[in-house]
Amino acid sequence: MFRVTSRFVAAFVAALALGLSVSLGASAALAADAPATLTPGPQTGTAQRADQAAAPPGASTIPGYLQQTNGERAQVQPGNNAPMWREIKQQAGFSSLPDPEAGVLIQPQTAYPGSAFTSAGEAWRQTRNLLLIPVGGWLLILALVGIGAFYLFRGKIRLEHKPTGRKIERFTPFERFMHWVLAFSFIALAVSGIVIMFGKFFLLPILGSAFFGWLTYALKTIHNFIGPLFGLSLVIVLLTFVRDNLPSKSDLAWLAKGGGLFGGGEAPSARFNAGEKIWFWVGVLFLGLLAVASGLVLDKLVPNFPYTRSAMQVAEIVHASATILFMAMAFGHIYIGSVGTEGALDGMRTGYVDESWAKQHHTLWLDAIKSGKIPAQRSGPNAQAPVPVIKPKA
Ligand code: HEM
Repeated sequence: MFRVTSRFVAAFVAALALGLSVSLGASAALAADAPATLTPGPQTGTAQRADQAAAPPGASTIPGYLQQTNGERAQVQPGNNAPMWREIKQQAGFSSLPDPEAGVLIQPQTAYPGSAFTSAGEAWRQTRNLLLIPVGGWLLILALVGIGAFYLFRGKIRLEHKPTGRKIERFTPFERFMHWVLAFSFIALAVSGIVIMFGKFFLLPILGSAFFGWLTYALKTIHNFIGPLFGLSLVIVLLTFVRDNLPSKSDLAWLAKGGGLFGGGEAPSARFNAGEKIWFWVGVLFLGLLAVASGLVLDKLVPNFPYTRSAMQVAEIVHASATILFMAMAFGHIYIGSVGTEGALDGMRTGYVDESWAKQHHTLWLDAIKSGKIPAQRSGPNAQAPVPVIKPKA
């Protein structure tokens, strides 16, 4: 089981890192193509996109080039719609948008993080293409490379003592069920989200536009439907685990020893250690709720919300930032909870951990069970029979 899991995780990490690095190479090329500001000019009535037909050399030297209509421009430079966009920028044309944006053809000027001060739609496009995609992509790659390097140098955190064969209940069936609903919906959202954001760079060239378009549309639909399920399971998981994630004095000592991640043993911790608490409060609660709230706005599921373009742009920036940080943290959680720590997955897989695992990683929790402060069997008399966990080596 572990060998299959570690092979799967290694392949997943490698494929994701490769895909993202390819995407960043391409996004750098796209960024170089994008103008810093949107000034009407012969080439840039709107952003020049990487997939637009290249202008025939010398077309812009034709007499009367700047006076061409959009139709005339299409004759000499197919795909160049600069004359149309120039007219639009001068507020020519009409908008049929309903309230609250009736009559607003082009949004007022603004600047988002990493963008120039320009019309809000273009500012959002710049933030996405010049900041969120490259910085977010590098962050995800760094997280994966960091985990890979940690695995190479530190290796798996092994059990210090032989398994005793005595099993301690760690998670009830309800806790495990909710955790896995959350985890699998997260994976579906992460994969579809990565394709939506980075797929055009590394999948489009391989799959071609017809299949890539179909796939992205299907994944976007899945993303939109799984989002609310993720949100619901997130809230249930938060309520389920909040009590055991409250800060305690032992957390400082655990952090001071680096959680034993770099050797030197782990300071005693209760049911969840300080690392898990940081994941709970910063990752699952803060970033998770931010991702869900902004996602519900993007899904248009929040009643009476003013769904203007600018509100959607801000929601998208918040959603992309929160989910990228959340994914980077989740990579760490998934690694430590699977291949990174011997015996950790047993608790979430079967509900039970070996006593020597509990002693090594959560001594205070084990002590509380032994002294009767925490019931040894929380899942009730009808709970499934304990499942064998790590088999004691002969
Ligand atoms: C394949 C993906 C995942 C694996 C293999 C995994 C593994 C685990 C394991 C083994 C534990 C128990 C740790 C212990 O006994 O102390 C755990 C706990 C937990 N996991 Fe996951 N997990 C995954 C995905 C997720 C995701 C996506 C989330 C949140 C969005 C999440 C949230 C939690 C929470 C809240 C806990 C309780 C401990 C705490 O509060 O920090 N897990 N996970």
